[in-house]
Amino acid sequence: MAILVTGGIGYIGSHTVVELLQTGHEVVIADNLSNSCVKVLDRIKQLTGKDARFYEADIRDRAAMDKIFKENEIESCIHFAGLKAVGESVAKPLEYYDNNVSGTVNLLEVMRDNNVKNIIFSSSATVYGDPETIPITESCPKGVCTNPYGWTKSMLEQILMDLQKSDPEWNVVLLRYFNPIGAHKSGIMGENPNGIPNNLMPYITQVAVGRREELGVFGDDYNTHDGTGVRDYIHVVDLADGHVKALERLKPGTGLSIYNLGTGIGYSVLDVVKNFEKASGVRIPYSIKPRRPGDIDASYADASKAKRELGWEAKNGILEMCQDSWNWQKNNPNGYED
Ligand code: NAD
Ligand code: UFG
Repeated sequence: MAILVTGGIGYIGSHTVVELLQTGHEVVIADNLSNSCVKVLDRIKQLTGKDARFYEADIRDRAAMDKIFKENEIESCIHFAGLKAVGESVAKPLEYYDNNVSGTVNLLEVMRDNNVKNIIFSSSATVYGDPETIPITESCPKGVCTNPYGWTKSMLEQILMDLQKSDPEWNVVLLRYFNPIGAHKSGIMGENPNGIPNNLMPYITQVAVGRREELGVFGDDYNTHDGTGVRDYIHVVDLADGHVKALERLKPGTGLSIYNLGTGIGYSVLDVVKNFEKASGVRIPYSIKPRRPGDIDASYADASKAKRELGWEAKNGILEMCQDSWNWQKNNPNGYED
């Protein structure tokens, strides 16, 4: 029996595939390569000595997805495939709703038709909007999202909850990630954004290798200890491990489960810069810029539910996250293009 990993060539998916193969799971990947590079498959093989079966397929393509289920004995799906650039989603809402929402509905229909009813879904802390209280627990109400990308996550959570309610044979795990950073310890797999990075860590690492001149810090007047935004950064390999643990929840009768995956600790933008400088020995020039629309003061998890119920907690601290991000970037200054 195999695990279908949609989006398994991407940043979080590829690290999860490595953890799955290393813990003895058989893996089938479906990815349309819209935001990833097929060379990742070689890196996965190099790290694990094993192959994942790869299909270049779009989750919106019913025939292609059905073929995957017909050709493999799939028991569960870990569903990463989706578009994730916040700014792009504001400019192209229909593309985001089509890819993420219609794509997932298509995937779920194919799963149902093939009687595979176990799914782990990549959700996000963005569904909490501007949280009423922090640390954020899973019982905090979902909030108003500030962009179409966030709404696709919020809507898909609702769709999955409605589906599970309609048919209790479904087992659904919603994982709400905080801010994934870091890379595989080997330095041969990591984040490989297209164009100008939207997120903090890839921007910092590109400044460090000389691809960008300086970091813009978006606002220094937030209600935080140094005025810059505070987030819960989590090492991507810890996050990957959270998915392996969450597979345990896909047992008959488990139903719906929701977990925050974060460390429970918040760091400001300037804290991250300082830790990166310490880890790399490279100075990161920065200047303060206006606030970025839609950003909030602070977001960090209460991650105790995942510890209690999944036996999972993050092991890597911020310095290790910075070291591993740097190790990846300095060995692969142009990502997978070298
Ligand atoms: P990523 O872009 O690196 O990986 C997504 C993968 O899905 C890519 O390989 C892409 O080619 C593939 N894909 C996209 N649309 C597809 C489609 N229609 N059919 C098949 N494949 C498709 O992103 P990531 O950072 O690894 O994120 C994985 C998931 O986690 C996404 O759903 C994302 O929204 C979610 N998430 C990410 C973050 C983060 O900060 N990275 C935070 C919270 C949630
Ligand atoms: N920031 C900068 N300069 C930059 C980039 C970011 O100062 O060049 C700041 C932001 O203002 C914010 C912090 O760094 O205070 C983190 O920003 P990111 O863009 O790295 O992350 P976000 O918290 O904004 O959002 C990310 C993903 C979302 C996801 C969310 C929660 O982009 O998709 O984490 O998982 F929903």
